[in-house]
Amino acid sequence: MRILEYKVERLIKELRLDIDTPERIVSYFLQSEERRKLLIDLMTVPETRFFREREQLEVLFDSSLKNRTFLEMASVGCSTGQEPYTLAMMMEERGVEGTVTGMDINEKVLREARAGVYRADELKIRKRVRFRQINLIEKRDFEALRGQFDVVLCRNVLIYFDNRSKEIALSNLSTILKSRGVLVLSSTEILSREFQKFFESFKCGKFFFYRKRGEE
Ligand SMILES: C[S@@+](CC[C@H](N)C(=O)[O-])C[C@H]1O[C@@H](n2cnc3c(N)ncnc32)[C@H](O)[C@@H]1O
Repeated sequence: MRILEYKVERLIKELRLDIDTPERIVSYFLQSEERRKLLIDLMTVPETRFFREREQLEVLFDSSLKNRTFLEMASVGCSTGQEPYTLAMMMEERGVEGTVTGMDINEKVLREARAGVYRADELKIRKRVRFRQINLIEKRDFEALRGQFDVVLCRNVLIYFDNRSKEIALSNLSTILKSRGVLVLSSTEILSREFQKFFESFKCGKFFFYRKRGEE
C-alpha cells in the first residue's frame, strides 16, 4: 500500500494537481477512461519471466496432464505475455494441440504481449496464443468464457488481492474452467480452506494444484 501511496503522490506532484484528500484523489482517477487506465498502471505489478517456476510447469504437463493431446489453457494475469508463450512452447515440445489465452486488466502490458517479437521458428507458437482484456473481479468478463478451459494459471496475481476480491476472482476462475478443470497458482500461494469451496487441492510431486469441484 505504501508503494501505491508513494506512486500516487509522485504522479500528483508531476501533474501539478491540487488535490489532497483520498476522496478527491479517487474521484480524479475515476473521471475518465484515460485516468482509470493510469490508475491501473500504477496499481499493477507487471513482473514476469519466461519459464517462471519451470519445475512446477513440468510436473503439471508431465504428471497431471500426461497423455492429453489437446488442451485449452489460460494464463490470467499474464502481464507482457511470457507465461502464455511459455505454455505454448511447452505444448509444442510435447506435441499437444490447442490454444493459450492470455488475459490481463492492464492494456499497456497486453499491447506489449501482442506485439511480442519472437524468433521466426516460434511463429507457430505465436499462432496458438491470443490475448484478451479482463478484470478478475468483473463477473461479466468471465461469463462469455464459461467452461472453456482445461487449465487456468493465475500465478502471482491473487497475492495482491484482499479476501473479498480473492473470493470473486476464484469464483470467476472456476466459471471459465471445464468441469474438473485445473487451477494453477504459484507454488508459494496456498489456497486456504475458506477459498476451497470452488476447488479441491491435489498433490502432484511436491506441488499442489486445484481441481474445480464437480457441479452439484
Ligand atoms: C506479477 S504479474 C504476474 C505475471 C505472471 N502470471 C507470472 O507469474 O509471471 C501480475 C499481473 O496481474 C495483473 N492483474 C492485477 N490485477 C488484475 C485484475 N483485477 N484482473 C486481471 N489482471 C490483473 C497485473 O496487471 C499484472 O500483469
